Amino acid sequence: MPKNPIYENRKPVITIRGLKKTFGQNAVLNGFDMDLYEGETLVIMGKSGSGKSVMIKCLIGLETHDAGTINIMGRDMENVSEDELRDIRTEVGFLFQGSALYDSMTVRENLEFPLRRHKRKFGGISDTTPMVIEVLESVGLAHAIDLMPEELSGGMKRRIALARTLILRPRIILYDEPTTGLDPITSKEIVLLMKSIQQKYSTSSIVITHDVDCARFISDRMILLVDGVNYAEGTFAELDASADPKVQAFFKS
Ligand SMILES: Nc1ncnc2c1ncn2[C@@H]1O[C@H](COP(=O)(O)OP(=O)(O)OP(=O)(O)O)[C@@H](O)[C@H]1O
Ligand SMILES: [Mg+2]
Repeated sequence: MPKNPIYENRKPVITIRGLKKTFGQNAVLNGFDMDLYEGETLVIMGKSGSGKSVMIKCLIGLETHDAGTINIMGRDMENVSEDELRDIRTEVGFLFQGSALYDSMTVRENLEFPLRRHKRKFGGISDTTPMVIEVLESVGLAHAIDLMPEELSGGMKRRIALARTLILRPRIILYDEPTTGLDPITSKEIVLLMKSIQQKYSTSSIVITHDVDCARFISDRMILLVDGVNYAEGTFAELDASADPKVQAFFKS
């Protein structure tokens, strides 16, 4: 449990305990624990190949885990029905590493696509245009509604991918390296946008990043993933001040 008193009365929206995942001889997660509290932004850092993306995939059921428990908004992922899993997938939005748009679809069609996939929640809505426009406005790209992905810059594509996540009205957003591949100015814009979305929609977020500036700006709390476990936890300032060489390695780079 975090020592910080601001978390004492907060409810976790995600709890992971003892998560283990091995691929062949490669033990990637060795008993990873995590709590994500309501309304917070939790940054997870770890070396390339340390299992951050695998952890996120286990969390949303895209990868099976070997041991451990995952509870999302009060539901044990081991015991959910197909219908419940579909509902959870609308409540937990994720922005994948790379997050490609469908090249043959316009921006509008890209944004409508997830609504069609989740008919149980959104099937009754006859005109989705107001929803498309609202999320486009949230990412500052209402004018791009009829463009094709090839007409967008890298930063614009990332914004549209974020709008596509937002259109399902998630309560939790998982960001896997949201600024990778972008120049420093565009990265900064995306990080500012993530913060404004956090405020506008009151989401709880997990942000996986190598970007120390992003972590400093956006994190309420951080976890360092080393050797398959949550090696260190705390605020950016607490971890930055740590004398532990394994912790310091993250902040020097
Ligand atoms: N489907 C898979 N089959 C076999 N090994 C896998 C699979 N997915 C991931 N791995 C291995 O698990 C380890 C962790 O991968 P993961 O993608 O989670 O790293 P990461 O921390 O996200 O790294 P990066 O910062 O580069 O994105 C790597 O050694 C990777 O090769
Ligand atoms: Mg990764």
